[in-house]
Amino acid sequence: MATSKPKKPLARVTTRSLQKIRDDGGKISMLTAYDFPTAEVLDEAGIDILLVGDSLAMVVQGHKTTLPVTMDEMIYHAKMVGRAAKRAMVVVDLPFPEGQLEIMRSVEAGTRVLKESTCHAVKLEGGAEQGKRIETIVTAGIPVMAHVGLRPQNIHVEGSYRVQRDMPRLIDDAIAAEQAGAFAVLVECVPSDVGQAITEAVKVPTIGIGAGPHTTGQVLVTHDMIGFNSGYLPGFVRQYSDVRKTIHEAAAAYRTSIQTGDFPGEKESFQ
Ligand code: KIV
Repeated sequence: MATSKPKKPLARVTTRSLQKIRDDGGKISMLTAYDFPTAEVLDEAGIDILLVGDSLAMVVQGHKTTLPVTMDEMIYHAKMVGRAAKRAMVVVDLPFPEGQLEIMRSVEAGTRVLKESTCHAVKLEGGAEQGKRIETIVTAGIPVMAHVGLRPQNIHVEGSYRVQRDMPRLIDDAIAAEQAGAFAVLVECVPSDVGQAITEAVKVPTIGIGAGPHTTGQVLVTHDMIGFNSGYLPGFVRQYSDVRKTIHEAAAAYRTSIQTGDFPGEKESFQ
């Protein structure tokens, strides 16, 4: 009798394997995920890093900024994503103000991510001024991805979301984050030459969003990338699908089939 071979578990993406991709001149793919089925399909598609981003405040909860989402809500979503991802590394954003108040609060938030959600790392907005915080979190055994360039949690100080052009400061931020022990640096909304200069200035992988083609990897908000977003779409997004239209058409067809008596049919009814 033919027996099927047990499936070999997939090798998990780790801080080490990401560094190897960067050292070998490869590219890293990263997308946001906030729930089990989305995380499962993105993981199956071979995406290297899933980010439980605080962008969920905007794309899932319907807020105008990322600020309102709480640590408890992040953990709630991180648990679903952590459960689904078999291969991808899962990174969880420290939501405002977990990365701004006293450093031990960030360490506690990071320990919750590793312990309660079984995800693998945290992401923290800020560069040079966050050096001590990054170092303390990493020393506690929690990998940190730094986030430089446009920092959405700083929206009320900045006044608007705009391209960040101060190349020397941005390079200093990335170097400081690397020196503090960050395993990767996410770079948001900078001109391509700044994305390239940052990538050349550090030895850890860089992940760009609106940072041009030269970063080690790319990240997008999944809802933007699949067309499941009714709001403003930043100019750096490429939309690969129109899920909103697909759902709208399916819902309208369902409604019509109820109205006409076509659904449920014989096949969908118990005899
Ligand atoms: O929360 C988020 O989605 C982000 C993006 C920059 C990817 O941090």
